[in-house]
Amino acid sequence: MASRDGPASPQTLALVVPQVRLPKPPRPLRVGVMASGQGSNFEALVMASRHGGLFAEVVGLVVNNPQSMALARAKGLNVPATVINHRHYSSREALDHVLVNHFSSLQVDVLVMAGWMRIVSPVLCRAYGKRLVNIHPSLLPAFRGINAMEKALAAGVCITGCTAHLVVPDVDAGPILIQAAVPIYPKDTMATLAPRIQAQEHRILPMAVAMAGQHLWHGQ
Ligand code: GAR
Repeated sequence: MASRDGPASPQTLALVVPQVRLPKPPRPLRVGVMASGQGSNFEALVMASRHGGLFAEVVGLVVNNPQSMALARAKGLNVPATVINHRHYSSREALDHVLVNHFSSLQVDVLVMAGWMRIVSPVLCRAYGKRLVNIHPSLLPAFRGINAMEKALAAGVCITGCTAHLVVPDVDAGPILIQAAVPIYPKDTMATLAPRIQAQEHRILPMAVAMAGQHLWHGQ
């Protein structure tokens, strides 16, 4: 039993990840990543692809924010990175056309929004269909949109987590691929909760990419 002050044992750090056994794809997936911030999920994908967790190669990163820490990570990891600044485009659609062209030129199979803090238009959704994946720091459908962790803390829920899902034009509303649950303890703050949620994001996102990649061989 966990007390309300914290975990009684490591097992009480609830983690709900279904056992996913997928057939191995005939070749490594070509993965493109879009990020706006720290880039820890981007790095987790690169690590999973290089150390056997994900049969894939991360072939390119796009950031919309030139200050994004993800750029430095890409340099350190030797992944080609490009800045496509949303401020230079007059509409979401115009930006998304440029993204589609960029990732098409890299022959990307699965495109991942790894902390991409932009709402995407149907242009991107149509181009990638069931091969466009987002990671979100809550147990959807709870706490959609920005500041999801803050919203969970403010709401006083005892369990939150993260969700990897397919992207549709509605924000944080696409079909759920995989979720992990993370308890919130009474003394939690963003500083203590965020790293626990992100650790689970890094775990489930590679699995979700492998799941979305199946759509290449089995429809869409
Ligand atoms: C992640 O926690 C991700 O779930 C969140 O941004 C963070 C990016 O971290 N995404 C959203 O809130 C999207 N609604 P990272 O840059 O270190 O990967």
